[in-house]
Amino acid sequence: IFAFHEQEVGPIRFDEPFGGWVATRYSDVNRVLTEHEVFSSDELRYSTQPIPHSSNPLLRGLQATDPPRHHALRRIVSQVFTPRAVASLEPLIEAKVDALLASAGSTFDLIGEVAYPLSVHTIAGLLGVRPSRWPDFVRWTEAITSFFGTFAADETRQAAFHQALTEMGAYFREEFERPEGIIGTLMTSDLTEHEVIDFCTLLLINGHETTKSLLVNAILCLVSRPKPADMRSAVEEVLRYLPPTGGTDRFVTRPTTLGGRELQPGQRVVAMITAANRDPGVFADPHTFDPNRKSNPHLSFGHGIHFCLGAHLARMEVRIALTALLDRPWRITDLDTHRTPVGIDVLKVTLAPGRRAAD
Ligand code: HEM
Repeated sequence: IFAFHEQEVGPIRFDEPFGGWVATRYSDVNRVLTEHEVFSSDELRYSTQPIPHSSNPLLRGLQATDPPRHHALRRIVSQVFTPRAVASLEPLIEAKVDALLASAGSTFDLIGEVAYPLSVHTIAGLLGVRPSRWPDFVRWTEAITSFFGTFAADETRQAAFHQALTEMGAYFREEFERPEGIIGTLMTSDLTEHEVIDFCTLLLINGHETTKSLLVNAILCLVSRPKPADMRSAVEEVLRYLPPTGGTDRFVTRPTTLGGRELQPGQRVVAMITAANRDPGVFADPHTFDPNRKSNPHLSFGHGIHFCLGAHLARMEVRIALTALLDRPWRITDLDTHRTPVGIDVLKVTLAPGRRAAD
């Protein structure tokens, strides 16, 4: 359902298989994201539909709560993610990218050898996880995200999911003996142990797949072009053009009108970021990738109280990795696209030294 040309079928429609409204116009998507009193993030409280994975820790965490609990949770961790705090990580991330590229060899898989370890190691490092356990975090994150993508009962994935949560919980309990990083900050708050584990799970999952996708999308957008003069605006344009998060769900709390349609309490609405980012009323020539685009108010990190906590971090990680990659001579030798269970397109990109296609 996350198509780019949704506006062509009207600003909002009820999608039967999905069981909810799909909002595509920029102004409507922005409203769904901003008016948290009408469009709640608390699925467990407002949804009138059966919830496939009600044991999902993400349904209890920051992203799935409304004020006042949302404000209380967000205040606890927001200091870790300020632009200043994130900027202080820049030298570490540069060193990480250099080390990954140095050990990658002459032909390597961009996802497996650079994008995955970069995003998961950064967030695991921020959490205060010991480097020797970072590979476990990659494994656990994969098991958890792949389980959420399956709506049919899948016993193997379910077992892997529970196993990953148990192992991760055990690890966090061990870490409580020597708190550092975000785990340390959370432990001095009044959160329960379960809440701390839920929160760490949320950060890992949110910070991992999305940042990896952004880097891959950036490579695909920029591969046949000269290195952009302004890498920051190029990254913003990749975010607008190919957003890693296609859309996000809300639940109607009271009768309301959206895009001329009447919405009822309990109904699900998906705010389609992909479509809003290509609304011709907001973005000139929306289907053209323009790394020098001047005004770029894309909604790829959401908007309002749930605006992405890791936005500064993700932008910085991807800018550093792209700058390092685009400085090297390379070309794409293999591009393998397939769908993961979570419904995200994964692109396996193999790079090799040599002249780039555009050179
Ligand atoms: C929220 C996208 C990276 C942590 C969000 C939302 C979006 C988003 C669209 C809003 C969801 C909603 O309103 O329902 C992205 C993209 C990323 C990225 C596109 C990478 C390119 C990260 C990273 C982290 C992170 C690196 C953590 C280290 C979070 C958290 C929330 C969130 C905790 C929930 C905030 C709240 O509910 O107050 N993200 N994200 N994200 N993101 Fe990200």
